[in-house]
Amino acid sequence: MSLTGKHIVLGVTGGIAAYKAAYVARELLARGAEVRVAMTHTATKLIGPLTFTGLTGKPPVVDLWDPSYPGEVHVDLARWADAIVIAPTTANVIARLAHGLAEDPVSATVLCFDGPVLVAPAMHHRMWQHAATRANVATNEARGLAFVGPVFGKLASGEEGVGRMSEPLAIVDALEGLLAKRSSARDLEGRRVLVSAGPTHEALDPVRFLGNRSSGRMGWAIAERARDRGATVTIVAGPVSLVDPGGVEVVRVRSALEMEAAITSRREDADAIVMAAAVADFRPRALATEKIKKSEGEDAPSIELVRNPDILAGLGQWRLGRARARPFLVGFAVETTDLVAAAQKKLAKKKVDLVVANHASVAFEGDDNEAVLVREASVTPTGRLSKRALADRILDVLRDGTAREDPGAPKS
Ligand code: CTP
Repeated sequence: MSLTGKHIVLGVTGGIAAYKAAYVARELLARGAEVRVAMTHTATKLIGPLTFTGLTGKPPVVDLWDPSYPGEVHVDLARWADAIVIAPTTANVIARLAHGLAEDPVSATVLCFDGPVLVAPAMHHRMWQHAATRANVATNEARGLAFVGPVFGKLASGEEGVGRMSEPLAIVDALEGLLAKRSSARDLEGRRVLVSAGPTHEALDPVRFLGNRSSGRMGWAIAERARDRGATVTIVAGPVSLVDPGGVEVVRVRSALEMEAAITSRREDADAIVMAAAVADFRPRALATEKIKKSEGEDAPSIELVRNPDILAGLGQWRLGRARARPFLVGFAVETTDLVAAAQKKLAKKKVDLVVANHASVAFEGDDNEAVLVREASVTPTGRLSKRALADRILDVLRDGTAREDPGAPKS
């Protein structure tokens, strides 16, 4: 458990998303952390302090001036904490943090604390966009506070926009990432990692294509974590609606053939290639130059397909002719039955080092995943975990597989 023994103060402030703070607390505990909760007065109107007492075993701090407390509660909390996460964080509290106000247990504790602070904002999208909030966020970031979200979605007002709090799992992942970064876990420093992500679109005519449901999020998670761990990262992405991660080169392609060309031209430079893309196995034989029209009384047209190249198998084949078993190759397998057997078959057939096998029911969309890591000599089920956590498990294998060789050692 990655947060084992860590002391985490969970600050809860007065947004409707406060009810989700209970899930954040539960997730922190599930990953081995000790949790103490501090709440603003408004937060206590939105979720009962007793909920947190039940979850964490300790009553939350709701009053800076509790006469029964012998010392200064915010000072003690800040001394105890390894990290503070505030979820949800209102525009008001972001403003307090920016201005050093300390009128509630959450902002007073932050003001006493010099370790990592993670802020998960939740508010109406116009409040988030307001120049005052923008300036306050910039001030907080410049002072080293980290932000996760807000994300696009339905807001309490019924409107949609960027203002919704990140999901609890994503918040705890971000906290883990923050702590890992601070403990300078840059164990992929110097490695060059090439990641493919998303679906491919195989065009039928100027307006239609054959595609699949891949969101690209698994590839994104691998790329972001590899970057956080010090690697130089390139993503070759099919059509996905994800924002380019900072500090990562992103090459956008559409079809399997374009993806193959983009990967082939970069394969020499890579220490590892992770094929997380859901590459279409087939494409229409012909691409109509004009939009295909239906005409009265005519049967539906049939589409003739041809095979696309298997990019991963091509990489495996190419590597056979190299002096060293580089780059390290990782493939994915999405299956509906016989997960492990199918992955082992793919590992051997495509001549790769690791196949990450998952069940079709959990592979697409969503933030969670559950996989089996299949290598030539081992089969490791991961259990249910977030895509980021799975990314870390894959990168652990990749790190060990790309460990720098002793320059004096004979090359394999
Ligand atoms: N892959 C690829 N090129 C393709 C198809 C797949 O590089 N044309 C890669 C994927 O990125 C993935 C792995 O191969 O890492 C496994 O893909 P999968 O979807 O299981 O498809 P197939 O290998 O084609 O197997 P199946 O017959 O089960 O569809």
